[in-house]
Amino acid sequence: MPASTGRGRDATGPQSAGVGGARSDGGAQSGATAAHAPPIAPVYGNVLEMIGNTPMLELKRMDAGPCRLFVKLENQNPGNSIKDRIALTMIAAAEKSGRLKPGGTIVEATAGNTGLALALVAGQKGYRLIVVVPDKMSDEKISHLRAMGAEVVLTRSDVQKGHPEYYQDVAERISRERTNCFYVNQFGNEANPEAHFTTTGPEIWQQMEGKVDAFVAGVGSGGTVAGVGRFLKERNPRCEIVLADPVGSILAPLVNDGRTIEPGSWLVEGIGEDFVPSILDLEIVDTAYAIPDSEAFHTARELLRREGILAGSSVGTLLGAALRYCREQKSPKRVVSLICDSGAKYLSKMFNDFWMIDNGFIDRPKHGDLRDLIARRHLEGEDFTVNPETPVLQVIKRMHLYGVSQMAVVDEHDKVVGIIDESDVLLALTHDAKSNTRRHVREFMTSRLETVRPDLSVDSLLPIFRADRVAIVADDKHFYGIITRIDLINYWRRQLL
Ligand SMILES: Cc1ncc(COP(=O)(O)O)c(C=O)c1O
Repeated sequence: MPASTGRGRDATGPQSAGVGGARSDGGAQSGATAAHAPPIAPVYGNVLEMIGNTPMLELKRMDAGPCRLFVKLENQNPGNSIKDRIALTMIAAAEKSGRLKPGGTIVEATAGNTGLALALVAGQKGYRLIVVVPDKMSDEKISHLRAMGAEVVLTRSDVQKGHPEYYQDVAERISRERTNCFYVNQFGNEANPEAHFTTTGPEIWQQMEGKVDAFVAGVGSGGTVAGVGRFLKERNPRCEIVLADPVGSILAPLVNDGRTIEPGSWLVEGIGEDFVPSILDLEIVDTAYAIPDSEAFHTARELLRREGILAGSSVGTLLGAALRYCREQKSPKRVVSLICDSGAKYLSKMFNDFWMIDNGFIDRPKHGDLRDLIARRHLEGEDFTVNPETPVLQVIKRMHLYGVSQMAVVDEHDKVVGIIDESDVLLALTHDAKSNTRRHVREFMTSRLETVRPDLSVDSLLPIFRADRVAIVADDKHFYGIITRIDLINYWRRQLL
């Protein structure tokens, strides 16, 4: 194995446990054929030794036309993303140059995988980490950073570069104001592409036994494309570097037609740009595909179903582009892409059918009436209901568990007999909470119901919502579900998509 693919070479900072062995150096062959038991992984002495040297998997259940498509499983890094590699090299470079000394503080502006990766490395090496996060980022991401030991500084997300509260400017200012403080700036840090030039690229080359016809990746900071792209081109100038870009990003039109477009917006996370990062020379990119969010999400879902890999949303963009590239080829090629991160944080979004429906990414059979507005359909068993004898405590638990603020109360004949909402529960708790939580929902529910037949107009819902109530859609035969204000808003939003 060449020295360049050694795992965790850069983990040798003052507090680091040192260099470790590789996960498997027979991984290339066994990963591609997978016909026998994989080699036994070594015992590591520090989590940083486990960064890099990730497995390669051939996707045999996706339709890659005449090509063979391989993915490098960067989600198997200990921080669950490709960014572990750059966190290691950027911190090691700062230590080497003296910009970061023992006991120092690391600052970065990010809400994504880079923050988590820096937290992992900083934690192991004994540095303090401050992550500046724009306030549009989800609570979950902030909690994850804090759980990893990072100090989170929230700043405004509605301001542009140059404003004193712009997140990158805040990070830079913090680093200037403190002593022994290092501002990472992955977008302009040469140790970022260097990580991929010295580890990701050589690993791919070795695992593929020097036979790589194309490499497909996205641009977040540009480090992956710049570093892996340069390495592969140096080894094989005919290797094509293919950019996977979200629709709305300025990069794909720039690569394909030299056109500068007005940036749009996209939902996949971690890739796509409204500027060209300084560490990325677009000359290295041969061709680009602009992939819509919808295609990205469906491709990531297909990857999970067919190949069993739970990957992040941007992986959908990468594989969407890789599959398009593969299917367009006239001769067989060996194509490599990446599983950049894990999809665990998308379980309630892209992997959730209701989120996909609410956001217009899944169409379901239309009835052409009010039933189309129901988010959770009762006849399909999608809604959360209680029966009249359910204890109030159970109602509270279910509301909390499912994140709903009201539920239909349905009797043994599947008829709606009431609605229980947060204010009913509150009323039950206000007087004698202890005994009321054991009493039945029947005693606290609202039984004055606003029932609408499916064939009524959308406008007929408005007086119901103005009176702060929910609409029950039912006819003589069936209860179909409830419609709330947010369902109506989502319905109108879907009409505009
Ligand atoms: C989640 C994610 N992060 C990062 C990257 C690459 O980022 P960078 O350009 O910063 O190396 C990709 C795609 O290649 C990605 O999917």
